[in-house]
Amino acid sequence: MRDGQGRVIDYLRLSVTDRCNLRCTYCMPPEGVEWLPHTQILSYEQILRLCRVFAGLGLHRIRLTGGEPLARKDLDQLVAGLKAISGIDHVAVTTNGTLLAEQLPVLRSAGLDTVNISLDTLDRAQFAAITRRDALEDTLTGLEAALAMPGLTVKLNCVPTADNADQWVPLAELARAQTLSVRFIELMPIGMGGGLPGIVEAELRARLEEALGPLHPCEGDPGGGPCRYFRPAGFTGRIGFISAMTHQFCSTCNRVRLTATGFLKTCLQYEKGVELRPLLDAGVGDEVLRAAMVQAIAEKPIQHHFGQGARQQDERHNMNQIGG
Ligand code: GTP
Ligand code: 5AD
Ligand code: SF4
Repeated sequence: MRDGQGRVIDYLRLSVTDRCNLRCTYCMPPEGVEWLPHTQILSYEQILRLCRVFAGLGLHRIRLTGGEPLARKDLDQLVAGLKAISGIDHVAVTTNGTLLAEQLPVLRSAGLDTVNISLDTLDRAQFAAITRRDALEDTLTGLEAALAMPGLTVKLNCVPTADNADQWVPLAELARAQTLSVRFIELMPIGMGGGLPGIVEAELRARLEEALGPLHPCEGDPGGGPCRYFRPAGFTGRIGFISAMTHQFCSTCNRVRLTATGFLKTCLQYEKGVELRPLLDAGVGDEVLRAAMVQAIAEKPIQHHFGQGARQQDERHNMNQIGG
C-alpha cells in the first residue's frame, strides 16, 4: 500500500524477541536490560495472523529481527509459516550470527532467503569489548555456514566507530573473493547509540578507497533497502553504505516495523504507530486489524531528524526492542 506521502510500503521488519546473548555497547547498557515477560510477546500464531493481513495490504518482504531473533525457540517454524502465506515472497533474518551455524539448515529448509550478519570486527579482543561477550568464533562459524549454503544471500553489517577503525579494510576485504555484501552503517542516535560518536560515510569511504581503489556504484542494483552498493575493481562481492545521518533515505523508505509486543511502528525515530495487541486480545476480525494498519501507515512520518535534538514523540527504546 502507499503511505500518506505516496511511498510504497511493502517491507515489514518483524522483531520476534527483545532478548539477546550479546550486549553491544551502542545497543544496550552495560548492566543489560530487563527482558519483557513472555506473556507480553506475541505468539507465532498471532504474528502469522497479523502477517496475513499485512500481506493483504501488499507487504511482501519480511525481515525477522530482535534482539537476537535466533534466541527465540523454533524460529524455523515461523519462517515456514510466513513463507506459506500467499503474497509473501521473501523472508530474511538479521542476526549476530552466534547461533546461526546450528540453526541455518532448518531455517533454510523452512525457506529462509537472506541472512544479514552483524560483525564489527575480526579481532577477538575487540569483539569482546564491543559486544561484551567473547563470541567472535561463534559468529565466524555462523558466517562460514551462511556462505557455504547454496542459494542463500549473505550480507554483513558493520557499524564503524573509532573503536574498530583498524578493521574497516579487513572487513571490506571479505567481499573480495566471496559473493558477500559488506555494509557499513552510520551509527544512529537511537537508544545507547545516542551518546556515542559515529564515523561518517565520507571518512570511511576515503579510508576504503585508499586501500582498495575507487568504489564503482553498482548501477541498477538497489537491493530493496536503504543500502547503496559499490564494487572496487577485482571484487566478487560488494561494499555498501547505510548512511542515515549523512545521506538521508527517508523519501524512498518502504518499510514499517512490528515490535515483539505487537506495536506497529511506522518510523525508526518516532514512537508513532498503533498497538495491535489489544485488538488481538479483544478478538476483533481481520477487517478491524486491517483498518488500524492502514491508518497507522497513512500517518507514517515524513522523515527522521537525527542530530537535531530530541523532540516529543521521539523513540526512547533501545535497539534491542526495535530490531534496528
Ligand atoms: P536489506 O533488505 O538486506 O538491505 O536489509 P536492511 O539493510 O534493511 O536490514 P538490516 O537489518 O541489515 O539493517 C541494517 C541497518 O540499516 C540497521 O542498522 C538498521 O537499523 C538500518 N535500517 C534499516 N531500515 C532502516 C530505516 O528505515 N531507517 C533507518 N534510519 N535505518 C534503517
Ligand atoms: N546505529 C546504527 N546501527 C545500529 N545497530 C544497532 N544499533 C545501532 C545504532 N544505534 C545495528 C546492528 C545490526 C543492525 C540490526 O543494527 O549492528 O547490524
Ligand atoms: Fe544484540 Fe544486535 Fe543489540 Fe548487539 S546490536 S546487543 S547483537 S540486538
